[in-house]
Amino acid sequence: MTGMNFFRSKDLETTKEFYMEELDLDLWLDQDKCKIVKDGNLLLGFCEGETVDEGGTITFFYRTKEEVDEMYEKFKDRAREEPSENDFFQVYQFFAEDPEGRVLEFQTFLHHLDPYMEGIELLENRRSVREYEGEGVDEEVLGKIFETCRFAPTSMNSQSYYFIPIEDRDVIEFMAERRGSNSAPIAEAPMAVAICCDNEKTGRPKQDGDIGAYHFMLTAWAHGLGTCWIAAMDRDDVKEKLGVPEEHYVATVTPLGYPKKVPETPERKEAEEYVKKTIE
Ligand SMILES: Cc1cc2nc3c(=O)[nH]c(=O)nc-3n(C[C@H](O)[C@H](O)[C@H](O)COP(=O)(O)O)c2cc1C
Repeated sequence: MTGMNFFRSKDLETTKEFYMEELDLDLWLDQDKCKIVKDGNLLLGFCEGETVDEGGTITFFYRTKEEVDEMYEKFKDRAREEPSENDFFQVYQFFAEDPEGRVLEFQTFLHHLDPYMEGIELLENRRSVREYEGEGVDEEVLGKIFETCRFAPTSMNSQSYYFIPIEDRDVIEFMAERRGSNSAPIAEAPMAVAICCDNEKTGRPKQDGDIGAYHFMLTAWAHGLGTCWIAAMDRDDVKEKLGVPEEHYVATVTPLGYPKKVPETPERKEAEEYVKKTIE
């Protein structure tokens, strides 16, 4: 199920412009008398009316305090006060008003959240994380991630990939030292996970293992956890340390933890550059 909230507006054009131009929401559906705008999982509908619905609060939440501060700089003139921490709700927030007087709240939660990002947003903002908080990953969260990983595709549904969580510091350091600066991020996280594939169960161990690994990374990201693909870990010394049979495939050994810093999106080509319209 999904849904949205509708608000009556006396000045639909200005309202639409404010949410689209100033707050960067996209026009999701134009119904002429109603405009529905969207960002992430937030859908807001504004409809022509004789009065303005200004009850309630429209809350935008962000992943970091820095993002809330950026919004404050942008909306200083509309803000009621500077951002501050609310100990009771464990949020960092400030309030402002939209052009018709609706209350807007900009905040970030100061604690971990269950997954809320979906589909496109999740795919577009996943990053390779190389700096982590020291805090460990809860068993329960890890269990939820592995539960979702059951649904990765595999060749002929072989279900041939498997995960090895690594919490032993000596083993983590060993993994981090395998490939110099390429594998160094492993030591920055409180734990690591090796994603492997049993070649006796599938004719496509590389594909199954790699897809299983990416499924794991995306699911971890949905839970607010960072990962980083570390390449060329399909090595004898790694397998020996992990007790993985020589013939099995090690897709990657990824660090896993809450990001200390999420890097900016590295430059990406435009979509059309990825699509070859003619075969040369
Ligand atoms: C096949 C593959 C191998 C990679 N190997 C490494 C690696 O050995 N060490 C590392 O720090 N990052 C590695 N990465 C992460 C890339 O550097 C990263 O995906 C790329 O710079 C784009 O950044 P993003 O993931 O944040 O979008 C690898 C990624 C892929 C897909």
